[in-house]
Amino acid sequence: MNRRQNYKSVISLLITTYLLVFSGSLVYAADINKLVKVCADCHGENGNSKIINSPSIAGMSTEYFMESMQDYTKSSRPVEKLKNKKKTMKDVVKKLSDADKVALADYYSRQKFIPYKQNFDAAKAKAGKKVHRKYCDKCHTDGGASADDDAGILAGQPSGYLKYTLGNYASGKREMGEKMGKKFKKMQKKKGDAVIDDLVHYYASQQ
Ligand code: HEC
Ligand code: HEC
Repeated sequence: MNRRQNYKSVISLLITTYLLVFSGSLVYAADINKLVKVCADCHGENGNSKIINSPSIAGMSTEYFMESMQDYTKSSRPVEKLKNKKKTMKDVVKKLSDADKVALADYYSRQKFIPYKQNFDAAKAKAGKKVHRKYCDKCHTDGGASADDDAGILAGQPSGYLKYTLGNYASGKREMGEKMGKKFKKMQKKKGDAVIDDLVHYYASQQ
């Protein structure tokens, strides 16, 4: 564990304690093993997805994780129903208490992210790398592989999920922070939407 991760787990422990002690209306977190069983159905064992359209959540920073939970709870982020599944993330978060979310954030931040094994087009990946360096790497450092940016992990995510979520950003269905929005729109204006496909191949190529 590096210093920043250490610091983050202390913070999440403090938040858990605060939630459990001071909020009379909150239930205690359910058994973590039971909780992660639910998630494993779509996000795989330890949060490493086996489904091309579903993201891996292993190694995610607690901050980004909690932000995602909040976005799904407020319905400010679109959801997708996976093939052969009955629920969406919106249904999943409804069943979680705040204490559950904090416990899950802590659990997944400590799991090792394993890049998804997948095919990619080398020429597109090369083009995507260039675009990433110019417009994205400032916040998604290390080619999008670092969790410490609190902006998700892009490198090695299943390509179906990358395509879905980048498409949602491009069409405006998923909201972006103001600063990312500026860069993203600049990229779209200069390069057109075809460049999204190059980015997908670039992130998929990092295995
Ligand atoms: C029925 C399938 C399903 C289950 C069960 C499920 N998820 Fe998800 N989850 C998804 C899908 C699909 C997405 C991405 C697309 C979307 O937003 O709908 C997602 C997205 C997420 C994200 C955001 C990932 C990112 O990169 O931004 C987090 C965090 C997450 N899920 C956590 C959980 C946790 C924790 C559980 C267990 C309590 C869980 N999920 C259970 C299908 C599921
Ligand atoms: C100024 C910082 C910044 C820049 C530049 C930026 N991003 Fe982001 N990005 C973020 C943050 C912060 C998040 C976390 C979620 C949010 O705030 O919307 C994020 C989230 C994402 C996600 C969602 C991850 C997930 O797991 O679902 C994707 C995909 C993404 N960015 C792609 C890009 C691409 C592609 C570029 C370059 C065109 C880019 N970003 C540029 C800050 C940035």
